[in-house]
Amino acid sequence: MERTFVFLKPNAVRRGLIGEIIKRFEQRGIKIIALKMMWLTEEQAERLYEMHKGKSFYEELVEFVTSGPVVAMILEAPRVIEMVRHIIGNTDPLKAEAGTVRGEFALTITKNLIHASDSKENFERESRIFFEDTEKVDYYLDVQDDI
Ligand code: TYD
Repeated sequence: MERTFVFLKPNAVRRGLIGEIIKRFEQRGIKIIALKMMWLTEEQAERLYEMHKGKSFYEELVEFVTSGPVVAMILEAPRVIEMVRHIIGNTDPLKAEAGTVRGEFALTITKNLIHASDSKENFERESRIFFEDTEKVDYYLDVQDDI
């Protein structure tokens, strides 16, 4: 089983899309291991996006993700890193396929509604910025017997 880290950006919360987006993970049979609503501190946002420091969009991005509460989660399923990236669609909503979260609900790159880890290394790094180990919940999910 593989895990990934996802957070719904402040505009997804403000637009009332929390349920709509989580539904897409649940209906695929993806297991939620940790889930919480929180405000990102500037320090957490800077750590999360440290690879983009110095780029033209960096400051706007940090300001945006700290502009309101986010919903952070750890998800588990086979090949879940690729699967979740597939479900959310291309970084640029213009290139995101119809039917993806960004392809259906997003308009601009910065405000593209959702973040998901793109590798196992980034899952480890990003999930540590948001979650303590004690916040990860271990339980049996019946539906995963059938996927
Ligand atoms: P990136 O890691 O390239 O994309 P993804 O979120 O799909 O993994 O970029 C991180 C975030 O930075 C992206 O979700 C939105 C923002 N961003 C911009 O605002 N402008 C840009 O030109 C790019 C590439 C990213």
